[in-house]
Amino acid sequence: MELMELLKLRRTYRRFKQEPISDEIIDEMLTAARYASSAANLQPLSYVVVKSQEKVKEVFGHTKWAGYLPKEEGQPKAGEEPVLFIGIIENENINRGQYCDTDAGLAISNMTLAAWNHGVGSCIIGACDKAELSNMFGLKEEQKLHTVVAFGYPSHTSKMEDAKDGNIKYYLDENKDYVVPKRKLEDIVKYL
Ligand SMILES: Cc1cc2nc3c(=O)[nH]c(=O)nc-3n(C[C@H](O)[C@H](O)[C@H](O)COP(=O)(O)O)c2cc1C
Repeated sequence: MELMELLKLRRTYRRFKQEPISDEIIDEMLTAARYASSAANLQPLSYVVVKSQEKVKEVFGHTKWAGYLPKEEGQPKAGEEPVLFIGIIENENINRGQYCDTDAGLAISNMTLAAWNHGVGSCIIGACDKAELSNMFGLKEEQKLHTVVAFGYPSHTSKMEDAKDGNIKYYLDENKDYVVPKRKLEDIVKYL
């Protein structure tokens, strides 16, 4: 895919086909995360890959979706759940605090773009039960769960529109596809 097209269509997806993602694609996603820049090249991140469908369901049970929508619209229903989760772990023994979050953002961006390059959609999930998931992932004292990222082949589309009157809340259109308002360039850029 051409880069700007890839960036434009790499949106958040929240309903998925129940088709597995190949190990080759998963390896490429993790390699893309590994390629990301890191403050002082410390590379404090590691990853937990959840791909057994039983464990995916368990992780799913600890996640919250689409806070701007009523639960019955935003939460994936049975048969629409993601088929893969990747937990993003900050290893505080390598880098405690400063710029870890930036590193995570860059790694997640690479990972989700590499996925989307193969048509695999994603949703970054901050709203999850981090205590339960840290326990399930067997995290050590010095390991902190940043986010989990859900993946799957999407069964809906998502498009952006210019935000009007500062309203940035995404919504579903008449086909139940996502529409995501983005602030206009003229509202967010200043040239000196
Ligand atoms: C750090 C971060 C945390 C997020 N957490 C959640 C979440 O818990 N649940 C969810 O449904 N979406 C979550 N999202 C997805 C955002 O809602 C989404 O990126 C935003 O609505 C814009 O849509 P877009 O990604 O298609 O541009 C998160 C995104 C980011 C970057």
